[in-house]
Amino acid sequence: MAATSVVGLQWGDEAKGKIVDLLTAEHDVVVRYQGGNNAGHTVRFAGETYKLSLLPAGILSEDVTCVIATGVVVDPAALLQELQDVQSRRGTIEPRRLRISDRAHVIFPYHIAEEDVLERRHSRDGIGTTRRGIGTCYRDKAGRTHAFRLGDLLRPDSFRRRLREVVAFKNTVLRALDPQFEPFDAEAIFEDYRRYAEQLEPFITDTTAFLHECVRNGRRLLFEGAQGSLLDVDHGTYPYVTSSNSSGCGIHSGSGVSERIIDRMIGVVKAYTTRVGGGPFPTELDDEIGQTIRDRGHEYGTVTGRPRRCGWFDAVAARYGAEVSGVDELAIMLLDVLSTLEEVRICEAYELDGRRTTTFPSHVEDLERVRPVYRTLPGWKEEITAVRDFADLPAAAQRYVHEVEDILGYPVRIVSVGPDREQTIFR
Ligand code: GDP
Ligand code: IMO
Ligand code: MG
Repeated sequence: MAATSVVGLQWGDEAKGKIVDLLTAEHDVVVRYQGGNNAGHTVRFAGETYKLSLLPAGILSEDVTCVIATGVVVDPAALLQELQDVQSRRGTIEPRRLRISDRAHVIFPYHIAEEDVLERRHSRDGIGTTRRGIGTCYRDKAGRTHAFRLGDLLRPDSFRRRLREVVAFKNTVLRALDPQFEPFDAEAIFEDYRRYAEQLEPFITDTTAFLHECVRNGRRLLFEGAQGSLLDVDHGTYPYVTSSNSSGCGIHSGSGVSERIIDRMIGVVKAYTTRVGGGPFPTELDDEIGQTIRDRGHEYGTVTGRPRRCGWFDAVAARYGAEVSGVDELAIMLLDVLSTLEEVRICEAYELDGRRTTTFPSHVEDLERVRPVYRTLPGWKEEITAVRDFADLPAAAQRYVHEVEDILGYPVRIVSVGPDREQTIFR
């Protein structure tokens, strides 16, 4: 029995998609278990670039089955669009290659409208969401009364009856908050979503039962995390988080498969730190170095195109992410982006109220107040995108990786020096 998981240890965009793509060949099933189309995983495959949001990165390989499991929130229109895009470039995707959970919750247009109102009216919090209705859908899931699962869409009579009630409720609330609001038409939504459901029906199934069968039959599973450990709704920098368990904690709840079957838990980190949206970011660089990193790393959001905030590698935050997620090893991505810098820094501790600490603060206001304590190391001038052996990296780059290992306490097994598959060093 062998299962692998790939989970981000920072605030997302650690290049999980590249690692999943690299490891897909060694697996039979690739599983997305949380998040939705807030995720943007860029994969370079056969000289082409694919930007995947809901479909697991394994969808580009013909021999694996992809699963969108129970813990994912699905915007059916977005999923169908993505399916169409991938099919137009890579051919038809048969139902045996994609299984979507009938327990997965569904995003509706009113979720996006509600989120717009929240983000506009409560800009004080400035969560800076992707505006995909992710948080408002998960809220309804936890609240139960207004939620729909994909399986509900396949039962037209009860779906229509409940949808009328829910849309009437949503219209009342949205109108109260915004007098300009144009009410939603329940019947029109019903028609659209019935059509989506008909198109998705061949893929919709009980993925939990399917995965249990895979485990029994010794098929090799690869779990693809979305977002990162510091955006986890329970363990991240709340409230500046996403609304799912985006650390390793979400694997079991989101897939229905115990994480005890996983024998390789890979924590993915960038060689520096980025964050999109609001929230504290102790090592953020609001200067020329930050801009150099943004330019060299093309740090603009896959989903929203927003410039990503950039900063030095925060080892306190990443180690916390690694511990919450329970990783065995690390993959350091985008190391090539740091080339040309005079010196490079790693935040090894925080100073909070004059005291040094390596504990990641539990309250966001404390995290806002910390001062990073840096280990400053020599940089390297050489471009490293053509390096394939660790020993061929400049000594300063090797040292950088060793220092990360030293502070985090986990071995670095993969070093990535460019977006392509070949631009990868295995140790
Ligand atoms: P994900 O959401 O964690 O899958 O990450 P994203 O796809 O949002 O962002 C990672 C970006 O970095 C993508 O555009 C990748 O093609 C790119 N990338 C991945 N690995 C490397 C690397 O080692 N070096 C460089 N320069 N780019 C990389
Ligand atoms: P991948 O899978 C980076 C961020 C948003 C915002 C916060 C909440 O590509 O790593 P949401 O729309 O989820 O309610 O927004 O979370 N966020 C991400 N940041 N990468 C992602 O996904 C993200 N998904 C959500 O920017 O700060
Ligand atoms: Mg991304």
